[in-house]
Amino acid sequence: MTTETVLQQLKDLQGLALSEIAGAGDARALEAAKVRYLGRKSELTAILRGVKELPPAQRGKVGKESNLAKKAIEAALEARSASLGSAGDGPREDPTLPGVRPARGRRHLITATTEYILDIFRGMGFSVARGPEVEDDYHNFEALNMPEGHPARDMQDTFFLSERTLLRTHTSPVQIRTMKSTPPPIRMVFPGRVYRRETPDATHSSEFFQVELLYVDRGVTMRDLKGTLTDFAHQAFGESLDVRFRPSYFPFVEPGAEMDISCFRCLGKGCALCKQSGWIEILGSGMVHPAVFRHVGYDPEEVTGYAAGMGVERIAMLRHGVPDIRHFYENDIRFLSQF
Ligand code: DAH
Repeated sequence: MTTETVLQQLKDLQGLALSEIAGAGDARALEAAKVRYLGRKSELTAILRGVKELPPAQRGKVGKESNLAKKAIEAALEARSASLGSAGDGPREDPTLPGVRPARGRRHLITATTEYILDIFRGMGFSVARGPEVEDDYHNFEALNMPEGHPARDMQDTFFLSERTLLRTHTSPVQIRTMKSTPPPIRMVFPGRVYRRETPDATHSSEFFQVELLYVDRGVTMRDLKGTLTDFAHQAFGESLDVRFRPSYFPFVEPGAEMDISCFRCLGKGCALCKQSGWIEILGSGMVHPAVFRHVGYDPEEVTGYAAGMGVERIAMLRHGVPDIRHFYENDIRFLSQF
């Protein structure tokens, strides 16, 4: 036999073997193909045995091609065997058994709560925008009426990236960016992640989420603020709840107020959730400070506005009775899949 003939024979053999393996309908047929093409009495084995009889010049080529053919057949057997499954070896699969359902993904409770909040404001005509999480001193503090050395900066312990860049401590800097790039009127909400140097506990985390609100136009008053935020509280927590505004201080608003809702667990009687006060704090708000308007080039004699900021986790904890903020970040499927 010439080398050419042997090489041709190998080629034919491999072709036959591969098509028979591909056509093997069960493990038994596959085993038969294995014996036929790789067994002791197979043509391929005979060729391999005969290699040493060949003239030395031809041994290399034929030996190499025979081994390649063998490898290709072995690989095809393995692949076909995997695709047939273990049907032949063990008990046959029972096609009447119910199938395995793939686990279904869902939105994280923080995402769902953010969307829930945004939807309420969308329904009132607000549009949504976002700003950067890496901020500079100017947008996070200075333009919000907290110049260098202002004691209110200490209210928000800050992660600095360099002397003037930082991880934003609140979503209020998006107010500044929006007003700088857009003339009034503005009716917008800004959701996003914020960062503070906090020691984590049941109600504090060094990363959390806020939704900020900004409404600027001619003649906006505190009545508009109270009306809109009361409407929000009723939609988010229930129509029957009482709402109250308490004077509070935030440098970027004047006057400033915190909004409380009557405790929905004890209905105002006093319980552990509301710390016996009957009220639960929901958000901070106020009328945009004239100094903020001057920073963004708005004329405080022309326009007025209100702003508010709320914590998404806090709203989610209250709405769903989540006792510890850390549950949101541990990504334990048993927690997340409840919502
Ligand atoms: N930025 C404040 C914070 O993170 C929350 C806040 C209070 C936002 C009053 C406002 C506001 O827009 O008017 O603590």
